[in-house]
Amino acid sequence: MSVLSGKKVLLGVTAGIAAYKTANLVRLFIKSGAEVKVIMTPASKDFITPLTLSTLSKNPVHSTFYDKEEEENELWNNHVDLGLWADIMIIAPATANTLSKMTNGTCDNLLLATYLSAKCPVYFAPAMDLDMYKHPSTKNSLDKLQSYGNVMIPATSGELASGLVGEGRMAEPEDIVSFITNDILSTLPLKGKKILITAGPTYEAIDPVRFIGNHSSGKMGFEIAKTAANLGAEVFLVSGPSFQKVNHSLIHRIDVKSAEDMYIACHKYFADVDVAILAAAVADYKPKNIATQKIKKKDAALTIELEPTKDILKSLGEIKKHQLLIGFALETNNEVENAKSKIERKKLDLIVLNSLRDEGAGFATDTNKINIIDVDFNQNVFELKSKKEVSKDIINEIINKLYA
Ligand code: CTP
Repeated sequence: MSVLSGKKVLLGVTAGIAAYKTANLVRLFIKSGAEVKVIMTPASKDFITPLTLSTLSKNPVHSTFYDKEEEENELWNNHVDLGLWADIMIIAPATANTLSKMTNGTCDNLLLATYLSAKCPVYFAPAMDLDMYKHPSTKNSLDKLQSYGNVMIPATSGELASGLVGEGRMAEPEDIVSFITNDILSTLPLKGKKILITAGPTYEAIDPVRFIGNHSSGKMGFEIAKTAANLGAEVFLVSGPSFQKVNHSLIHRIDVKSAEDMYIACHKYFADVDVAILAAAVADYKPKNIATQKIKKKDAALTIELEPTKDILKSLGEIKKHQLLIGFALETNNEVENAKSKIERKKLDLIVLNSLRDEGAGFATDTNKINIIDVDFNQNVFELKSKKEVSKDIINEIINKLYA
């Protein structure tokens, strides 16, 4: 999944020959999961048809303040609504004429009026012939627009439509998308941070076909992983057997089965991470001996001797240096006291406490109700929320600790 996934992208197309490349630009935005709307200056329709861009963007394309559907039934295209709809506005190609008008606040077409109304980050990708690009008035526009906070995606050098060779080619659509992606990533609070997360249950083998497991779905850990990655973190998600799915370029999924596998994977990544969040429901006991053949049914009772698994959280607490260590506690009674004692025993920075006494909290539900307790035993009690929302509360608390 890209950071552009789910983002509302408003593409403004102006009248330069590079407008033909916007078909590919729209495709790339759609491919990365963004929702795209296109507005065009009237003259840009000589370079690419609105039909092409509306088909690719799956949205109507507008170029005037109203669409004449029928003579007496004109549809008003509200530039303010369009400007507020967008999470990102990108003007590509941005001609010298449009850049100059943007600089001066001229709004004699829908695109310019929308630009003036937009509150989101605005990117522009200039495209023009080399002498126009070099002209002091153009340079003045580029500087001024950047001083207003707009972000320039610089033109590149190469052969131009005039046949001349020089600076003025619009950046390629692939480069525009990666420029915007990197720009968004660089502003995210967890950019550059590495986070280890455990999720799901563990399966402790009894024989080749049976195991001891639990009802953990992995949902809480996976939601935390997605929230952290959406905020720019590189995530190492060590998951026990789980049906949860994840598809994000910043999440590395490491599938494990047993507590021992999870212990080994966590120790492999821990030294290199900034934060470890252990949300997995790890089995506390495992069969002392795993039968090599399937155990046959007999009339007599069967006793399986169990031995403790390694406590992964405690083992990380013992070796932690710079890392923030966050554990989970699922309790049924004496919740806060038990959680506090876990913070001390396992050398945690934070503990996320759920009580099975709270309806909607814990395993295999889509909701959770948590209390986050820190080393000073400050408590932050949250309402019952979806696990997605809970993951945001947990990550916010971690961000506050990281930058405290
Ligand atoms: N945990 C772990 N390794 C284990 C068992 C638990 O890393 N072998 C982690 C869990 O991922 C969770 C935390 O420890 O973050 C709490 O687990 P829990 O089973 O509640 O705590 P215990 O220390 O086992 O204490 P108790 O059984 O007394 O509640």
